[in-house]
This record gives sequence, C-alpha cells and structure tokens, in this order.
Amino acid sequence: MSLNERLTQIQPNAIRAFDAQISDVADILKLTLGEPDINVPTHIKQAAIDSILADDSHYAPAAGTQALREAAVHFLADRYNLQYDADSQVIVTLGATEGIYDTITAVVNPGDRVLIPAPNFPLYDPTVVLAGGVPTYVDTSATDFLLTPDQLQDAIDTYGDQLVAVVLNYPSNPTGATYTSEQLSALADVLRGTDITVIADEIYSELVYDGQHTSIAQYLPDQTLVLNGVSKSHAMTGYRIGFVVGPTKLIRAVGLIHQFAVTSASNPAMAGAAEALGTEAGRQDTLAMKAEYAARRDYLVKALRELGFAIPQPAGAFYVFAQIPDGLAQDDVAFSLALAQEGKVAVIPGSAFGIGGAGYIRLSYAASLVDLQTAVARIAAFITD
Ligand SMILES: Cc1ncc(COP(=O)(O)O)c(C=O)c1O
Repeated sequence: MSLNERLTQIQPNAIRAFDAQISDVADILKLTLGEPDINVPTHIKQAAIDSILADDSHYAPAAGTQALREAAVHFLADRYNLQYDADSQVIVTLGATEGIYDTITAVVNPGDRVLIPAPNFPLYDPTVVLAGGVPTYVDTSATDFLLTPDQLQDAIDTYGDQLVAVVLNYPSNPTGATYTSEQLSALADVLRGTDITVIADEIYSELVYDGQHTSIAQYLPDQTLVLNGVSKSHAMTGYRIGFVVGPTKLIRAVGLIHQFAVTSASNPAMAGAAEALGTEAGRQDTLAMKAEYAARRDYLVKALRELGFAIPQPAGAFYVFAQIPDGLAQDDVAFSLALAQEGKVAVIPGSAFGIGGAGYIRLSYAASLVDLQTAVARIAAFITD
C-alpha cells in the first residue's frame, strides 16, 4: 500500500500527544491546551442559530460569505489600520490552522526553505515538510524569543534564493512574546526587495496586554500573508473560522489550495464569526475576555516567579513560558511527567516547541483563576517535596 513518504518525516502533534499521555492521571488539573474556558457570547450564538433557521444551508462562495469577508476587512482596518479588498484579498479558512496549511502549500516548492523562529507553535514545521520544503530554525531563546533583523539577514545571506518564506507568530505561542512596531519595521526593512513571503500568524492579535498590536503587513503589505480568526479573540475555537488576507496574487494561490481542500467553511459558523468581527458587541466581548486573561496572567507570572521560575514577560496570547528553577530536574519532559503524575498539574514540556524550548514548561492561562490558584499551590507542594 502506498503512503506519502514525507509522512515518515513528521510526528503527531507533540502538544496533543503529551496532553493525551497525562489525561488519565486521577484528579489532574490541565493547563495544557490553548482552549479558552469562556463560552461564546449569546449574540454570536444567536447569529449562528439564525443562519440555520433561515435555511442558509447551501454551498457558500469558496472564499467565504460576503458578510464575513467584509467584517474581516472592517476588523483589520479598524484595529490595525490594514486595507484589504473583500472581493479579491480575503479567504475564509477553517481556523488559522487551515490558513497555515494553505499559505505554506501555496508558496513552497520542494527543496525550498521556510524560516521559523523557535521555539514555535508546532504546526508550521510538518506543513513545510509535507510541501517538500525544509523547516529552517532560528533559536530565539537568547534574544527574548524574538527574531532580530541580524538573525534574519544572516539567514538570507546563508540560504539565498532557497529561502522563500518566514513565519512570524506574534503574540507567540508558546512564549507570549510579541514585537513592537519598531521591531517589525526593522524586520520589514530587511525583507523589502527580496522575494520572501512573510506568513504572519496573528491569531492572538486581540490578546495583547502591554501596548498595542501592530501587523507587519502595515510595513510590508506586498509580501505579507496575514492569518487571523475568531478562535482566540472570541473563544470560538470549535466554530473553526479563520481568515487569510494578502496581496491579490498570493491570495489567488491560497484560494486555490483552499478551494480544492475544503470548498468553503460552514454557513452558521461564518454567520457567528461575522457577528463577532463586525459588531460593537463583538468588540466588547473581546475587551472583557482580554481583561480577564490579563488578570490571570498577572497572577500566574507573579506566583510562579515567587516559586523561582524565570519567566520572560508575556505581552500577549495566554501562555506563560517558565524556565525550570535551578536545583530541580532540568529535563522538561521528565519534569512535566513527574509534575503531572505526582503534582497533579499538567503543563506542556518546552521541548515540544522545538529548538530553544528545552528546560522550559508552557502553562496555558486560558483557565479560571480558581484553577490557576489550585495549580500554583500544587506546583509549590511538588517542587518543595
Ligand atoms: C499560534 C497559533 N496559530 C494557530 C492556531 C490555530 O488556530 P485555530 O484554532 O483558529 O485553527 C493556534 C491554536 O492554538 C495557535 O496557537
């Protein structure tokens, strides 16, 4: 029986694999997945219900409903000062996940390299491999988990025309680090005039606690594909709605991959997402969620630092990337397994996020404050045992 040989080069998602491995531990408290504990606001649910009741049950346009494409364009203009044409520069995808697949598949030829600042969300690498490309990492653990213009220039000098794309995920999963507008402008200066496409995964853009999110597309619109969606901004992970925007030529390519892979997203989910992105009520939902996450972040970072974990200040998303204190087992996988089995708290070992992640653990604070307090008490008991 024939199988795609490239499948031998990829492993199942390490986050989900670790989560499954510790899920049977009795009384486990999980801070593993990036899954909000908050329910979808009622007016958004109602929009999805109305779509069903209106017999909105036929194939949608492949690029997504007009209403959602317009809402996405409005959202990006309103929040990030980005200008896109709803008819030719937007594709609605099944979450940012499909956006990652479509964009990488659209730009990578066999043998091409894609630059991935690491540690990184472990979805980019297998997608590059499946497209026949070569994931090419830059260790950012010594540069505040951010890609610097010098590192980028070095990669361009080293790999030349082989380097076709760079993935920038900010705010970052797993570290929460994000770029200032000055830092993005400096990266754009290095990229301008090259043939490199930026794949900007900005799915956490609405969850920036310190300062304001800026998109690199503001500085490099002709070379950037921006990925976003409602999974994190509106706790709509299960609706599976994201979108990709970019210059018309690139979006045409992304749209072809999307069309042949999924045809279109589902109508009720798109109606919910249009309500989320296109209304003032939707904006207020996000602000309320953000305030809640900010309070949790402040609590968790302070409490873990008091226990001896070194933590780069997470400016956004809902993760803390904590360095295991000196004097404790430094192997993050062994530490996380023992913490789950003996301490009853599940976190993700940093090495699941690749280069630069060893010695760290990732905790998701998309969990209630009460759960976070219980987790901290358990971690304290575990490490002082
Ligand atoms: C950085 C990053 N990109 C993409 C995704 C996937 O988002 P979606 O649920 O919209 O597919 C996630 C989900 O955790 C993520 O952390």
